[in-house]
Amino acid sequence: MENGSTIAIDGPVASGKTTVGRKLAHRLEYRFLDTGGMYRAVTVVALNKKLDLGDQDALSRLTEEMPIEIVASPDGDRLIANNIDVTDRLRDRDVDQNVSQVAAVRGVRTALVRQQKNIGARGSIVMVGRDIGTVVLPDASIKVYLDASVEVRANRRHLELQSAHGTLSYQEILQDLVNRDKIDSERDVTPLTPADDALILNTKELTIEQVVDSILNEMESR
Ligand code: DC
Repeated sequence: MENGSTIAIDGPVASGKTTVGRKLAHRLEYRFLDTGGMYRAVTVVALNKKLDLGDQDALSRLTEEMPIEIVASPDGDRLIANNIDVTDRLRDRDVDQNVSQVAAVRGVRTALVRQQKNIGARGSIVMVGRDIGTVVLPDASIKVYLDASVEVRANRRHLELQSAHGTLSYQEILQDLVNRDKIDSERDVTPLTPADDALILNTKELTIEQVVDSILNEMESR
């Protein structure tokens, strides 16, 4: 397998891309970047500042001026935005509910994509998101698109969130996912869509290990 490869993994909410990407990076001893965390960090800072999330210019300016640092720690990466550690806020419900709107803003995307391209330029990285194969790393060594029905994904998220937001029902989570899928795939700026040359894997019947193995096999066969 060639050294310094770049691996792009895209897919909708709860398609398994973050878990798969992290494991793959671990197996290959590559760096890992979850780009969704960067959109979430901007959302946290915007909510903290009580910005009007409909004000696209203000959100774009905020992102342009915001230093985002990813700091490795023994318990996983910490995300520092505007010099504040926002890691523990990234998965809160108000962030879940507003991040798709923030991620649909052109100026926010331009600023974050620029940083992601810089991070990717050194190679040896697994990057996950929605537009990695299409926009951030169009020349990635391999592009993967993970998919599963919204019901399968809601079920997974329900199990995952039981400790974090214990009071959310399956129906509420399903509705949140339907709303977020709609915004992510219908937005004007680079909507969620597989790259033409992506390996598309439906994760419904596959374990995480099976998905990781399929990607490694595909890399080896090229
Ligand atoms: O993967 P996630 O749920 O953490 O992503 C949060 C939001 O950010 C989601 O609405 C999609 C958006 N996103 C994006 O538009 N482009 C990316 N590369 C990563 C995430």
